[in-house]
Amino acid sequence: MDKLLISGGTPLEGSLRISGAKNAALPILAATLLADEPVTIGNAPHLHDITTMIGLLGCLGAGVVLDEKMCVEVDARNLTNLRAPYDMVKTMRASFLVLGSLLARCGRAEVSLPGGCAIGSRPVDQHIKGFAALGAQIEVVDGYVRGRVKDRLRGAAVQFDVVTVGGTENVMMAASLARGVTTLSNAACEPEIVDLGNFLNAMGARVSGHGTPVITIEGVESLHGCRFRVMPDRVETGTYLVAAAATGGHVRLNATDGSLLGAVLDKLREAGADIDVGEDWIELDMRGRRPRAVDVETQPYPGFPTDMQAQFVALNAIAEGRARITETIFENRFMHVQELNRLGANIGLVDRSTALVSGVDKLKAAPVMATDLRASFSLVVAALAAEGETLIDRIYHIDRGYETIEEKLRQLGASVRRVSAR
Ligand code: UD1
Repeated sequence: MDKLLISGGTPLEGSLRISGAKNAALPILAATLLADEPVTIGNAPHLHDITTMIGLLGCLGAGVVLDEKMCVEVDARNLTNLRAPYDMVKTMRASFLVLGSLLARCGRAEVSLPGGCAIGSRPVDQHIKGFAALGAQIEVVDGYVRGRVKDRLRGAAVQFDVVTVGGTENVMMAASLARGVTTLSNAACEPEIVDLGNFLNAMGARVSGHGTPVITIEGVESLHGCRFRVMPDRVETGTYLVAAAATGGHVRLNATDGSLLGAVLDKLREAGADIDVGEDWIELDMRGRRPRAVDVETQPYPGFPTDMQAQFVALNAIAEGRARITETIFENRFMHVQELNRLGANIGLVDRSTALVSGVDKLKAAPVMATDLRASFSLVVAALAAEGETLIDRIYHIDRGYETIEEKLRQLGASVRRVSAR
C-alpha cells in the first residue's frame, strides 16, 4: 500500500492547473449509457474512481476508448450485460448511478446495493422512490436492486424527502427518456447537477431548472451523440486553497471557476486570506500570516460543502482562536479528528456532528492513516503545515479523488514523496 511522506513547514507558492470534476464526470459517464450514438467526454480527471466507472461501462458492454488527454469516448449502442456487480459497486458508491440510465434505455437492470461506507450508512431509498414514481418495479433481492419497466418509464412528480445529489442525478437520467414530463422537487442544486443537466441537453434531452430545487425534465424518444467538457473540480480547487492558507502561502489556481466556491472563499477570507478571482483562475495570498479560526457548518449547495469540512478542520487546527465545526450531511464524518490530534492538534468532539477546534501554534509530524477521501487531504494539509516529516498511510483514498497529488504539491514547492510498499 502506498504512503505519502511529507516534509512540512514550507509555505505553498506557485500555480497549478485544476482537473476536471470527479463528481461531475462520474454521473456524466453513467449518463452516456442513455445515448444511441457515441459520446465524447473531455476533461475527465485521471483518477481511480473514473477508471472504476469506465471499467463498469465496459462490463455492461459499452465500447470505451480513452486517449492520453483523458478524452473518453463511450459507445453504448450495444449493451450486453445489465448487471452491475457487487465487486464494482462496493469499491465506488457512484456506480449505483448507472441504474437510472439502464432502466430508462433498456427497461431492466440489476445493480448491487452500495452498502455502508466509512462516512455513514448512505442509503439509496430516495433513488428507488424516484424510479418507482416513474413506474419502475423495484425489488431488493440478495443485496441487489433489481428494476423492471413495463414498456417505458413515464414522467411523474417526485418530491425528495432529503436533498440528495446522487438521487437527483439518477432520477434525472431516468426521466430524460421517460414518456411525459417529470418534476423533481427538493432537488439538489450542486453545480455538478447543472453540469449533468447541460450534458443531457447536449445529447438532446429537455432538462430545465437544474441548479434550482425544482427540475423539470420533458422526456424524449432517444438521445444522440455529442462532445462535452466536464466542469472544473471545485473541491480540488478549494482543497489546494486551504493547503496554501494553512501554510501561509500564495498560490494561483488555473482552469477553475471561482463562482462555484462562494461559501468556501467567504470562509477563507474570514480566515485572513486575500483572494482574487478571475474568469478561470483564483489567486490566494496569505502573506505569511497565520489563519484565524473560522466556524463552519456544512449544508447542501450553495451552503458550505461537506467535502471541504475535513480540510477546514485542519486549517483551524493551526489557526488563531477556537472554531466550531458542524457536520449536517453525513453522520460519521469526523474520523480525521483522531489522526489530526496525533499531529498535535487540539480537537474535541462534542457529539457525532460537532467538533471544537482550539488552534495550536505548531503541529508536529507523526505517522497517520487516511480514512476516507476528503479526510485524507486534511492530513495532507496538516502535514504541510507541521514541523518534521509526516508519513500518511492508506493514501489509496486520496488517489480516488485527487489527480497526481505529489506532482501538484511539488509544483507548489512542497516536499512530498510517494513511498511504495511492496
Ligand atoms: C455526493 C458526492 C459526495 C458529497 C455528497 C454530498 C458524488 C460522486 N459524491 O454523494 O462527494 O459528499 O454528494 O454533497 O457526487 N441520502 C438518503 N437517501 C438516499 C440518498 C441519500 O438518506 O437515497 C442521504 C445520505 O445518507 C446523506 C445525504 O442524503 O446523509 C446526502 O447524500 P447524497 O447527496 O446522496 O450524497 P452522494 O450523492 O452519495
